[in-house]
Order: sequence, then structure tokens, then C-alpha cells
Amino acid sequence: MLSDRIRTSAFRKAIEAVVRPGQVVLDLGSGSGIMAFFAAKAGARKVYAIEQTNLVDFAQNACTSNGLSEKVSFIKGHSSDISLPEKVDVVISETIGSIGFDENIIRNFIDARGRFLKTGGSIIPARMRVFCAPVSVPCVHARIGFWKRKVWGFDFPLGHEYAANTIYPARIRQSQMFARPRCFFTVDLGTAQDDCLESGFSFSIERPGIVHGFAGWFSATLSKGVDITNAPGARITHWSQNILPLPKPVVVRKGDRIHLTLQTIPLEKSLFWNWKGAVRREWAEKKERVLEFDLSTFRGYPQQLAVVRQSSI
Ligand SMILES: C[S@@+](CC[C@H](N)C(=O)[O-])C[C@H]1O[C@@H](n2cnc3c(N)ncnc32)[C@H](O)[C@@H]1O
Repeated sequence: MLSDRIRTSAFRKAIEAVVRPGQVVLDLGSGSGIMAFFAAKAGARKVYAIEQTNLVDFAQNACTSNGLSEKVSFIKGHSSDISLPEKVDVVISETIGSIGFDENIIRNFIDARGRFLKTGGSIIPARMRVFCAPVSVPCVHARIGFWKRKVWGFDFPLGHEYAANTIYPARIRQSQMFARPRCFFTVDLGTAQDDCLESGFSFSIERPGIVHGFAGWFSATLSKGVDITNAPGARITHWSQNILPLPKPVVVRKGDRIHLTLQTIPLEKSLFWNWKGAVRREWAEKKERVLEFDLSTFRGYPQQLAVVRQSSI
């Protein structure tokens, strides 16, 4: 992530535009501490940096090495379990997943705004959008199909269930899309009250081919005029797109319709995606639903099973 120049320079630009000298800042999900260091350099009087993993030790070490330990205080734990000694002027949180909300950023902000942010305070990012489009991406079904065969002579019946209910990182070209992307969610992180989201769209297929699933991605406005996205065709960042697979590949022709309803299921410290809908054939004599689907990363547990390289199993 630190070597992702597009992401990191966009956040630095937003932090420099938003943080004023003397302000108090929270970096929620501080990882290496880089956003906290940017805030300190931008003139913050105090920066609280919350991180749930052992990365706090790594970050603390860098903080000391860079002479910032007077200003930046690292706190280990999940933000929802932490209290701060004072309210802050700015909350920064780079807890953005490939489909935007995967790391529970909305819930993180609802909690942080309510407990830590001064009235009239600022947040980075300010707004996020999530987009989806039906795509051709055969490698995903190669991975799911792995579990339908005997593995070293044994059946692993749950392997296929888990793999089908998993989202997969992939880099999609615009030429792999079958329809214009739709914006499923627009969330203003400064005012959002609810992180249980649901939205549905019907895609009109624009060319023939085989649809394997839906690519999902985000665009985020960090501050006024500072935007980042991992959309197909945009400058490459460390975020790929994520694929929500169909249960099986489907042959489509121009004019067919695919309905997709996308839903978030946020839990206290994690978030699951549901995707359901139907593929409707419009070109045959008999117009029909050729496939219905109802999948969820909730049923993909343990998700690691599907994403580990088959060669390592
Ligand atoms: C995508 S990384 C970004 C790290 C760093 N902010 C950066 O920009 O390089 C997100 C980090 O946030 C942490 N994190 C996510 N949600 C958190 C939460 N609610 N409380 C504490 N840490 C959290 C994760 O453990 C992870 O290290």
C-alpha cells in the first residue's frame, strides 16, 4: 500500500488540504502510520492513531525514528473498543476495500463521528460510491470448479459451496464488461447513519459472450477535488476489482437482461456481501429466466479456502 503512489499521494493531498495547524486528528486503521505522519507534518497538534493489529509496533518504531513521538500516539485495538482523551477535529480512515465498504468503513465512521469528532469536524474520505458491471472472467470459475472434482481421490463437498460464495480479486479491462456499469451506492461518510445497504439494477447486455459474474469497485472523494478509484481502465492502484461470481457461467446475447441486487451485511467488526438476482434470456423464442442466484460471503466462510492457491493445497 505504501508503494501505491496514486492512493498515498491522493491521501496526502487531502490531508494537507483539510488538516489545519494546531488541530487534533484521528487516524482510524493506521497500519504503518503513514496517514498519521502526514497529519503531523501538516501541522496537527496531536494525532491519535488506532490500529487493531501488531502493526502498531512497526508504526511506533517508525514514529520514533522520524522524531514524531511527541505528536503521534498509537493505540492498539479495534476503534469501537477504544476511548480517546479528547475530541478530534479530523478523522482520517483509509479502511477502503476493493468494493469500497469491505473493511466496514461506514460503520467505522458512524462510530468515530459519534464518539470522537467535534461538531463541525472534517472527515477523509468524505464520500464513496460503489459500482458493478457484468463481466467475463473465466479464471474465477476455474477456481470454483476445482472443488467439483475429486481432490487427491477425495470429495470435499463444502469446498464448492465456500468457493461459490467468495469474492475474488481480478483486474478487469473495460472490454470484459457486458453492460454499462451502474452505481449501486453513494454514501456520504459525514452523515451516513445506516450501513445496511441494499440496491438493485437491471443490466441490458450489449454484446454476446459468457458472463462469469460481476466486477465491483469504488470511487472515493477524499476531499474537495481529490478523488481516487479502482475502476477498470483507471490508473492502476494496489486495489484490483473484486468479482462476485455467478453460480455458473452463462451464455448471453445482446438484449438479454441481468438483474443484480447487492446488499451489505455489516457485523460489529466485519462485513459480508450478498448478491442475488436472475439472468433473463430475451433472444430465444421463449423468453425465460435461465439462471437465478442468491449468494453471500457469509456462506463463503472460511473464505481463505477459496483464495489460497490450488497449488498450495
Ligand atoms: C487498508 S489498511 C491502511 C493502513 C494505513 N492507514 C495506510 O493508509 O497505509 C487498513 C488498516 O486498518 C486496520 N483497521 C481496519 N478497521 C479498523 C478498526 N475499526 N479499528 C482499528 N484498526 C482497523 C487494519 O488492521 C489495517 O491495518
